Amino acid sequence: MSIVFDARDRLWLLRTPATSYVLRLDEDDAPRHVHWGASLTLDQARQLAEVRAALADTESDPGGEELAVEGGLRYGVPSLIVQYGDATHGVEWRFLSQRIDEGRLEIVFTDRRYPLEITLHYRVREDSDAIERHVTLRHTGQGPSIEILRLDSAAWTLPPRPGYRLSHVVGEWGKEFQLQRGELARGETTLTSRTGITGHATNPWLMIDAGEATEEHGEVWSAALAWSGSWRITAFRDRRGWAGWSGGFGHEGLTWRLAPGDVLETPAFTGLYSAGGFGATSRGWHDHVRKHVLPAPDRVRPVVYNAWEATEFDYDEALQLDLAARAARVGVETFVLDDAWFGARTHDAAGLGDWWPNPGRFPKGLGPLIGEVRRLGMDFGIWVEPEAVNPDSDLYRRHPDWVLHTPGRRRTESRNQLVLNLARTDVAEWTHAWLDALVGENEISFLKWDMNRPFSEAGWPGRDDPDRLWIDHVRNVYAIIDRLRADHPGLFIEGCAGGGGRVDLGMLARVDQMWTSDNTDAAERVAIQHGYGQIYPACTMGAWVTDSPNSVTARTHWIRYRFHVSMAGALGVGGDLRTWSEDDLAWAAAFVEQYKRARPVIHGGTQYRLGTEATQYVSTDGREVVVLMYQPSALGRTRAPVRLTGLDPAGRYRDQATGDVHHGAVLLAHGIGAGLMPFDGTSEFVHLTRVD
Ligand code: DGJ
Repeated sequence: MSIVFDARDRLWLLRTPATSYVLRLDEDDAPRHVHWGASLTLDQARQLAEVRAALADTESDPGGEELAVEGGLRYGVPSLIVQYGDATHGVEWRFLSQRIDEGRLEIVFTDRRYPLEITLHYRVREDSDAIERHVTLRHTGQGPSIEILRLDSAAWTLPPRPGYRLSHVVGEWGKEFQLQRGELARGETTLTSRTGITGHATNPWLMIDAGEATEEHGEVWSAALAWSGSWRITAFRDRRGWAGWSGGFGHEGLTWRLAPGDVLETPAFTGLYSAGGFGATSRGWHDHVRKHVLPAPDRVRPVVYNAWEATEFDYDEALQLDLAARAARVGVETFVLDDAWFGARTHDAAGLGDWWPNPGRFPKGLGPLIGEVRRLGMDFGIWVEPEAVNPDSDLYRRHPDWVLHTPGRRRTESRNQLVLNLARTDVAEWTHAWLDALVGENEISFLKWDMNRPFSEAGWPGRDDPDRLWIDHVRNVYAIIDRLRADHPGLFIEGCAGGGGRVDLGMLARVDQMWTSDNTDAAERVAIQHGYGQIYPACTMGAWVTDSPNSVTARTHWIRYRFHVSMAGALGVGGDLRTWSEDDLAWAAAFVEQYKRARPVIHGGTQYRLGTEATQYVSTDGREVVVLMYQPSALGRTRAPVRLTGLDPAGRYRDQATGDVHHGAVLLAHGIGAGLMPFDGTSEFVHLTRVD
């Protein structure tokens, strides 16, 4: 890892272990992209800069600015849209200074006429090929405010290639993270959320390849945004057929007012280049997220029990105690009490916001249940939805002005709830105070933080800059979670938004895992988990085993298949254990046991996708290997062998279940798992340990 500034050529070379990134200043000081890809020496970078500059000279708008501004003959996707006090738009760059500090680079510019300072930030590390970028703006004058209509975190430019493919995920509630891969269209393709949260419809990352990458081969350029509110990434293929993208927080139409002295800082937009195909790209992301994003990557993800799918709103203390006893029998480590434990919340139309135990359900408070859960040897967790309120609640009756609203407009409800304006300091303080008391006064070690609706009528009466709430709400959510973590160091936090509606690197920087989807049908989950795992590591992917037939899809699946699918993530159990047979409970206990042995490999190891229906995990020391194989259709009961990867051909590996010893070379050349599928399932779990 290194960053070099070549003052003569006004060029920077940033190096990660396997890649290089090069940028330079144009004659007019515009920061121009030169290279993002294979490693280069400074000499090579200089020559490439000359070649690219000569090419750029033939163009009126060569594109490739590190932050695309408006002005002159630029007509591409702007990363920065500003309007100064006199209604002038655009930026004319003037380079001021640069600073290199360890793996960080800051390049400071100002507009040539207006008091707007723009700093481009880059960060590289010695154990990751990810390049983290963000931008800060500063109003350095005394005069009128500057209106910021868009401020992206970075623009990324790809080298010219004959073709490009875009990979990203799309979805909706219950069907998140569906991977799409197709030709990048000429023109502009925008992925966005205008909902105030990350959203189910798409997720803030993308990969672009030259149209020929496979799982294990080919160049892939990718990036992921660390933001949990509205966002936008626009990928483009320009008139020459060249590609890139620009992206950041907020969506179109929002304005940020920068007053004299104000600073606006964007979230990080992290890019990763790999020459090893989609598999190596995903592995690069998993590794980076575990090393540099997650707050406590090494903390063991507990096996949770959560009765939401089993009971929804219909339960009392006795029922939860009954379920807790059964959960303990199958080896659960944390028992989580989901929605409907508080206020008048016996259905989804009342009580949200009234964060005290429902007196009918918990007459003596949460103490007896927590005590019993702990006596059973489990930790206790609890569900909260701090950003929303039911109008039918004491909180709303007391503070109707605390929600996002616009005078003269209706207050549109979704799931019978409104959104609290957490951008307000008083609302954020109140929210932190009740959460802090809830966690501090009870033995709570796990918090499930849910958010079940998008923003609407997002006004802030009394403010002349109400749009700032779209950013400040998210920042205050972050601040509350960060403060809770700091004050309660043992607290484990699960992020959730009606399933996987708020999964992103911003949230993952402060929660331990995510609730991936409310769809727990194992066969559907294979696709959801496949999309999730493109960027996010297995240890963050909450995955419950629920009932059969499934409550969302009504499909039936063998218990074995249900467990095997959930064992690919952070395993939980979410079924109505009162209805499980003794046999099923015994199977569940055995699977949980097996999972606990494999958990360090699945969560801490390297993940290889072997086709679409098998995944392999190899521990960091290479001595343990776990393989999960799925065949969702019971038709065609014979199966081809699954060839393993990443093993030492000279090593021998013992199957923990059968005791069979396999040569690494045979597993690599031929594979395992061939032959007849077992009658009682459509999946296999194999845990191998190296014997020599
Ligand atoms: C949506 C979540 O995804 C579910 O797991 C559950 O917590 C419900 N909300 C509770 O209202």
